[in-house]
Amino acid sequence: MSRFIVEGGNRLRGEVRVSGAKNAALKLVAAALLTSGRTVLHNVPDIKDIGTMRAVIEEMGARTEHDSGTLTVEAEGVDSFVAPYELVRQMRASILVLGPLVARFGQAEVSAPGGCDLGFRKFDFHMNGLRALGAEVELDHGFIKARAPRGLRGADIYFDYPSVTATENVMMAAVLARGRTVIENAAREPEVVEFANFLNRMGARIRNAGSSRVEIEGVEELHPVEHTVMPDRIEAGTFIMAAAATGGDVRVVGAVPRHLGLTLDKLRAMGVELEEFAGGIRVRVDDPRELAAVDVSTLPFPGYATDLQPQMMVLLTQVSGAGVITENVFENRLRVAEELNRMGAGIDVFGGHRAIVRGPKRLSGTIVQAPDLRGGAALVMAGLAAEGVTTVDRATHILRGYERFEAKLSGLGAAISYESSAALV
Ligand code: EPU
Repeated sequence: MSRFIVEGGNRLRGEVRVSGAKNAALKLVAAALLTSGRTVLHNVPDIKDIGTMRAVIEEMGARTEHDSGTLTVEAEGVDSFVAPYELVRQMRASILVLGPLVARFGQAEVSAPGGCDLGFRKFDFHMNGLRALGAEVELDHGFIKARAPRGLRGADIYFDYPSVTATENVMMAAVLARGRTVIENAAREPEVVEFANFLNRMGARIRNAGSSRVEIEGVEELHPVEHTVMPDRIEAGTFIMAAAATGGDVRVVGAVPRHLGLTLDKLRAMGVELEEFAGGIRVRVDDPRELAAVDVSTLPFPGYATDLQPQMMVLLTQVSGAGVITENVFENRLRVAEELNRMGAGIDVFGGHRAIVRGPKRLSGTIVQAPDLRGGAALVMAGLAAEGVTTVDRATHILRGYERFEAKLSGLGAAISYESSAALV
């Protein structure tokens, strides 16, 4: 077990560089399965989830190497098409090997993802999407088994909801299908656009990614490419809000304004000073108590990102007035309120998916448990703004998605350390 220990009270100051985006890089690693040969990815963060995705594709016979941010994948020797439970249970995004395996090899067996820290999460869109493309897909003894011995064929696919990974899985399957696929109600996240651009560089023919109607013309085969991963907008947003909550002055290098549209709009409405410079965003706040509360409601992009919701909850504890958070994507994402309340936040959760946060509150440090990745990062942020020492247990959640988190925060003047030991429970 591991934990972060944070001593609050320091204003964050200086410059921090955002790493490559977890939720872009993971998909590019899976997509390397679509071709034999050597895919080279730069700016890949050294985080636990990338390690899990490497283990998944190595299990299938691919070879990978990750050194100084560059990840190479050799997918020539792939001869197994099974993603086992042990790996999928560590990371749901392992399901992303389903599309490329069926498209290239005509078969895949992926353990069905089970319980998740974020609540009930289904995988029916992934299965139905592949079925629409002509694969036989069944759930058998806990495995999603898909077969397409005669290849896939293009189809019109309608999603009930613009799921990010289901859109990406279907895109990977459709790029090698015969004929034309249209995905209606596709996810529009910047990572989906990056993914389509990457596939197109490999030789795919995808149009209108970033809109809710994506068109894909199947091709015979793809070729490996070299690519640099986009910066992580969620990490950028986390640093921006941590700076605001501590009354800081930070240049976030790699923060891309168009990826953070509504977040920046909300922060400006609160009174946070945001200045765009070539390559990033500078955030400045004199006294968070002079900021005003806003309401946020999480929605698929371009709506307010659920992955930045817990951080906004913490920021709202430091500003004046009451803000209502409506969590529409993941039911468990408000759970962090219980830990924040142990620090004195006094948040009320009502109606199952709404929270009212009244500020400004003096948070006091104590031991808290990271409920999940983003909730964990938000608790570290709360520790930075709190009086005294906050210990954030179950820090492995945070390491899944934030590269060198404590080093980057220390670089901004935070008093934070990381401890890991078999003896810690
Ligand atoms: N859903 C279904 N059926 C499906 C798939 C999804 O009902 O087959 C529902 C889910 O239950 C959920 C909603 O659709 O209520 C949204 O889920 P989505 O599929 O969009 O999420 P995801 O693709 O599994 C990605 C990110 C998450 C991020 C969400 C929402 C990756 C690897 N993960 O997950 O990132 O929160 O989109 O934006 O891209 C994180 O980085 O901390 C993280 C959890």
